[in-house]
Amino acid sequence: MERQEAIERLARDILQSQKTIALTGAGISVESGIPDFRSAGGLWSRYDPNEYAHIDGFRRDPVKIWNMLREIIQVIKSASPNKAHLALAQLERMGYLSSVITQNVDGLHQAAGNHRVIEFHGTNRYLVCLHCGFRDDTENYDTETTVPRCPRCNAVLKPDVVFFGEPIPENAMREAFEEARRAELVMVIGTSAVVFPASSIPSTAREHGAKIVEINLEETPLTGGISDYIIKGRAGEILSDVVAEVRSLVGGEKDVH
Ligand code: APR
Repeated sequence: MERQEAIERLARDILQSQKTIALTGAGISVESGIPDFRSAGGLWSRYDPNEYAHIDGFRRDPVKIWNMLREIIQVIKSASPNKAHLALAQLERMGYLSSVITQNVDGLHQAAGNHRVIEFHGTNRYLVCLHCGFRDDTENYDTETTVPRCPRCNAVLKPDVVFFGEPIPENAMREAFEEARRAELVMVIGTSAVVFPASSIPSTAREHGAKIVEINLEETPLTGGISDYIIKGRAGEILSDVVAEVRSLVGGEKDVH
């Protein structure tokens, strides 16, 4: 399907859907300067996730893991929402997007203006203590030059993100699958769809009658089976074009907030 044709099709699907949600992954933040994980040059090409992203590795040697975490936090600090994030915020303002379920921990959806964001893999906004449960804002700590320690028990603090081997936050799991079951349209944006259970959100929605549309540079395991169609390209350009098409179909700004 031609790209313009696909953009027009998605705009119509958005207008016809009573409940549209987005599932986003690292690919939506690449245009903000944050590398993804599995593309060429992605984070996992430089750090072995089994060594650096598993909770056992953090418990064993938290100082070593902070060498990677420091890099991610610095990149996120200087990142701002890109056209893709802003397009999703416009769709929410226009009343055409019920929620964003994100696997990202960069907070860029909220920074772009989305209010209903389900952070499926936690957030870099807070640090937590695995020993005594202490929790605080990451910005209260100089993570650039030091390894943050718990002011109560002196243990090394951990970003409030889900490492491999950790459970998905209970509320996020419940809310995400409730949204998936009730969705009529799911836009799957910038995710390789290989990490469970996030990767089962589109199939859950499809089983309940939803249409699944992927926006990605390349095909994923969802393509051609779970997904009804894929719009190949950069999320920023595609989503901006989709919002422009929605506007032209409804005739100008339709803000419900
Ligand atoms: N526009 C659209 N898609 C893009 C862009 C872009 N500009 N850049 C990259 N992509 C796509 C890639 O083609 C890839 O399919 O985004 C996807 C990124 O995949 P991953 O790097 O695997 O990221 P993600 O799917 O979010 O990973 C899921 O794995 O390591 C864990 O916890 C981590 O939340 C992460 C999870």
